[in-house]
Amino acid sequence: MQDLFDGDAERGEQFRICWDDFYVDFSKNHLTQETLALLTELAEECQLNEAMSHYFGGSLINATEGRAVLHTALRAPRDQDVRVDGENIIPGVHAVIDQIKSFSQGVIDGTITSSSGQPFTDVVNIGIGGSDLGPVMVTEALAHYKTHLNLHYMSNVDGDHVMEVLQNVTPETTLFVVVSKSFTTQETLSNATTAKQWLVDALGEQAVAEHFVAVSTNLTMINDFGIDPQNVFPMNDWVGGRFSLWSAVGLSIALGVGPDHFEELLQGAHAMDTHFANTPLQENIPVVLALITLWYNNFYGAESEAIIPYTQYLHRLPAYLQQGIMESNGKSVDRKGNAVDYQTGNLIWGEPGTNSQHAFFQLIHQGTKLIPAHFIGFKTPLYGKQDHHDKLMANFFAQTEALMKGKSAETVRSEGVEKSLVPFKVFAGNKPTTTLLIEKLTPASLGKLVAMYEHKIFVEGILWNIYSYDQWGVELGKQLANTILKEIVNKKTGAHDSSTSSLLRTYNSQ
Ligand code: F6P
Repeated sequence: MQDLFDGDAERGEQFRICWDDFYVDFSKNHLTQETLALLTELAEECQLNEAMSHYFGGSLINATEGRAVLHTALRAPRDQDVRVDGENIIPGVHAVIDQIKSFSQGVIDGTITSSSGQPFTDVVNIGIGGSDLGPVMVTEALAHYKTHLNLHYMSNVDGDHVMEVLQNVTPETTLFVVVSKSFTTQETLSNATTAKQWLVDALGEQAVAEHFVAVSTNLTMINDFGIDPQNVFPMNDWVGGRFSLWSAVGLSIALGVGPDHFEELLQGAHAMDTHFANTPLQENIPVVLALITLWYNNFYGAESEAIIPYTQYLHRLPAYLQQGIMESNGKSVDRKGNAVDYQTGNLIWGEPGTNSQHAFFQLIHQGTKLIPAHFIGFKTPLYGKQDHHDKLMANFFAQTEALMKGKSAETVRSEGVEKSLVPFKVFAGNKPTTTLLIEKLTPASLGKLVAMYEHKIFVEGILWNIYSYDQWGVELGKQLANTILKEIVNKKTGAHDSSTSSLLRTYNSQ
């Protein structure tokens, strides 16, 4: 990479995309114009453009579940027309957005009150996976834009997690939002049942109607659970859980940061949708980022990709993207059901900078593994603490430069380092990074960023010829857990391998 920079003084300007408030610099990658042209040819050969029109147009591209994939429709303007089974779904989408806006505004204003007539102070989102990670990531990311409501997240079926959340809220002023696309998820139903009992113990059965609302496609199960049908925010089966924060799943976001900010988030995502749908492949941010991922994954043998946001607000972004990317593209059969003989979805991990610099950057700089990384930073700090921001961003820029340039033995020696220590202080450099410099962390820019990753996931799935929108790989563990739970409850161990049997005997003997 140093040779590429030395040979072309303009490289930094040539390998970047400036769009809206995004500056995407991909010059610090092992790429030439020829590489990019060849990768783009690959995308064309995979008929990416045709695939994009199926994606936006509502074709049943989630073929193994027979569903369309239309999270893009959730942020489309009112006058757009997107058809599923011949019906325009946009009026229904906006009816739900309006329902979210008026309910969340009512709770924030205090016109919608608790069973005792008090304004709500706390909201507990009960959900897991896409019914948790999107709302928690966004409300943390937009904490600067917070309403007076305190958001809490109950996801893990771990009873200690449940009790820790309940200990921090008061029944009289707490609203529970039960979020489950299927309304069959063990964790969510168990946690909602415990929370409901806790509320009933404190306030009586009649309080449930005012304190519980639900988000789901499964209206029958919600009814069985005892939530008032008037308190249901519907979602559609053409929204995948990990892409659902734009749907009624975003209710907790609207409560946490206000309905106007929720709407700006949707508008930002729509702006990225428009960029993705209408921009030639070589200038198209999600396409170029997906091609770079493929380049390292399939040609360099890179196993993972690090996501390093230089803002504490985005501390849940890597976890959110782990589900988005790994649940989508962690597949080993192609669209015909044949085993692939190439690598597909990569491992996603990361933590905010500068904290991560003091944790795992040693391995990125001097370890044996190739780890392409995304550095995400913002030009303007939200509280105006410019001195801090300059330090933060100095690190942001310095790290990508250090990773690319490294430090030669000659330079180390010239610094007067004792001969035996020289090898330990050498940095090989040549470590690839992509830098996203964004104007400011706002609801709109966050919407653009998240939509950018969603489209990158889609492009990767097309390039790898896999189905990105199912997740059969999570089912087996769920099935076995149900069997084992029965055995634990009945104290009767069934037939297992010797390891599992012995572990179960030890657990049951407590
Ligand atoms: O883990 C599998 C999964 O189906 C995810 O895809 C989904 O986000 C999560 O479980 C929660 O599902 P639900 O919203 O139906 O409770």
